[in-house]
Amino acid sequence: MEYLKDKYKDYFYIGAAVNNNTIVNEGEIIKDHFNSVTCENQMKYGFMYRNGAYNYAPADEIYDFAKKNGILMRGHNFVWHNQTPYELFEKSADEVEEALVKHINLMNERYGDIIYSWDVVNEAIEDKTDGYLRRSVWQDKFGTDYIKKIFKLAKDNLPDNVSRVYNDYNEYVPEKREKIIRMIKEVNAEEKLITGIGFQSHVNLYYPDLDLYRETFEEYIKLGLKISVTELDLSLFEFNDKTKLDAPTPELEEKFSKVYGDLFAIYREYKDHIESVTLWGVSDRYTWLDHFPVRDRKNWPLLFDVDGNPKEAFYRVMDF
Ligand code: GLA
Repeated sequence: MEYLKDKYKDYFYIGAAVNNNTIVNEGEIIKDHFNSVTCENQMKYGFMYRNGAYNYAPADEIYDFAKKNGILMRGHNFVWHNQTPYELFEKSADEVEEALVKHINLMNERYGDIIYSWDVVNEAIEDKTDGYLRRSVWQDKFGTDYIKKIFKLAKDNLPDNVSRVYNDYNEYVPEKREKIIRMIKEVNAEEKLITGIGFQSHVNLYYPDLDLYRETFEEYIKLGLKISVTELDLSLFEFNDKTKLDAPTPELEEKFSKVYGDLFAIYREYKDHIESVTLWGVSDRYTWLDHFPVRDRKNWPLLFDVDGNPKEAFYRVMDF
């Protein structure tokens, strides 16, 4: 069988989000097909640092697996309104800044030899049409220009060749996209602090339309940014649809394969601007979409099925 990472070696890194179970249960698929991994949760600041102490063990295990198998990593993430060490925010702004700088340096010393890109700030833009930035302890602490401040800290503390990415979802929804672009322009006004845009790409069979998706690539490329597709999965359900299915119907399966093929055709077309394409999971055996947005509703959003076999969509992605 041909492997994803080999087929795409002249295009971009092919990644998967992994955790401490999937590096065991899906270890063979990961080693064969992927040359980049992202920790699903284990490198998030709020996951690593709790009750005044670091717990490195889960991230170490994933790093060791990657390193042993010649796989690179994307770091995910430094600053987010969620899964962040809230306990630090009792302290002054200077102390929080000091803790973050220390954190960036710790991550770099421990894992930096195989990390080529960090999600420096995750999901800072408001979804609601009337707001700009989302409410976050980081904004409360550092003020409305906190994103710039954090990217500056990242620039000063990470090696220059590590991409500094702003990562978000619904990055193609026009109203949100305008706000992301405004923020990037503000942050990069004097110097290029943000070097890459992370397209999470939690897409579904109905949204977004691929012309909108492609047009969004163009908009970010105009800003001089590299694109990383950071969390790709393709849900079979529209976002507000609560239907449960025992298995995908043949019609859904066909549409699914087609959309995956079309997405990767766009990625290949923009290869000069794309650093990595990361799927948010390995096989349909385990996906966060089994619990989101509907609890205990099975979904099948990835390229490998529940038994770890390549799906028709996999072959479409490989067919060029
Ligand atoms: C966001 C985050 C990811 C992950 C998903 C849900 O997209 O960036 O780290 O938490 O939500 O799995």
